[in-house]
Amino acid sequence: MNIEELEISLGLPEHLIPEAAKLWHEAFRHDIEPLLGCEATSLAILQKSFEPEQALIALYQSQLVGVAGLQYEDRTFLKFRLTEFVDELGWLKGTLNFFLTRLSGHKIQKGEVFIEAIAVEKSMRGQGLGTLMLGEVAEFARQNRFKVIGLNVFENNPDARRLYDRLGFVAVKTRNYAFLRRVVGSRFIGSTSVTTMHLNL
Ligand SMILES: CC(C)(COP(=O)(O)OP(=O)(O)OC[C@H]1O[C@@H](n2cnc3c(N)ncnc32)[C@H](O)[C@@H]1OP(=O)(O)O)[C@@H](O)C(=O)NCCC(=O)NCCS
Repeated sequence: MNIEELEISLGLPEHLIPEAAKLWHEAFRHDIEPLLGCEATSLAILQKSFEPEQALIALYQSQLVGVAGLQYEDRTFLKFRLTEFVDELGWLKGTLNFFLTRLSGHKIQKGEVFIEAIAVEKSMRGQGLGTLMLGEVAEFARQNRFKVIGLNVFENNPDARRLYDRLGFVAVKTRNYAFLRRVVGSRFIGSTSVTTMHLNL
């Protein structure tokens, strides 16, 4: 990767929303599809659910190669709406799946920037881009006087966990999903636990 051809910036331009939905879907397909349906309905719902100003994006040679969704104050990157679930999935499945998405919402703390998720395009992974993007999130957070960066990492994603450990994030809480998983099914909740990590600024 030639760093001079890389641009990292805040905000997702409108014309890149379909690309961002594809990148997000590819990175989180196994978590997304049980709730948002097949690839076509997932992409349709994602495109309508992104809040563009809450994104930090990376462009390489003018192509979108990374997206991080940021939550702070009362703003979220992914804002699911019941109407879109019902339009795409039908009344019954749409309503049920919409309410299942509410189970994973994060309650933001005062002074916190929460990274809802970060995704780097597959062919660009492992070259330092995720590290650079997380550095830019920290820069944004410091400039805006936030005190802590939070994120959640699933127990079945040890590679991402290693990256966050290396950058100095510390585990503050682990929620066990074993019971919930048994109730709603492992198809909907792929991991048995999720750990919240913090980086104090
Ligand atoms: C996690 C992710 C954003 C990291 O971005 P990246 O550009 O690959 O990260 P970097 O190159 O800066 O750092 C690489 C580190 O990430 C980890 N990593 C995670 N997934 C990886 C992958 N698929 N390929 C290579 N490295 C990966 C490695 O452990 C590596 O750590 P190391 O250098 O200590 O070995 C990216 O791999 C990705 O999009 N993964 C799929 C989506 C995901 O799991 N997101 C995180 C959950 S919120």
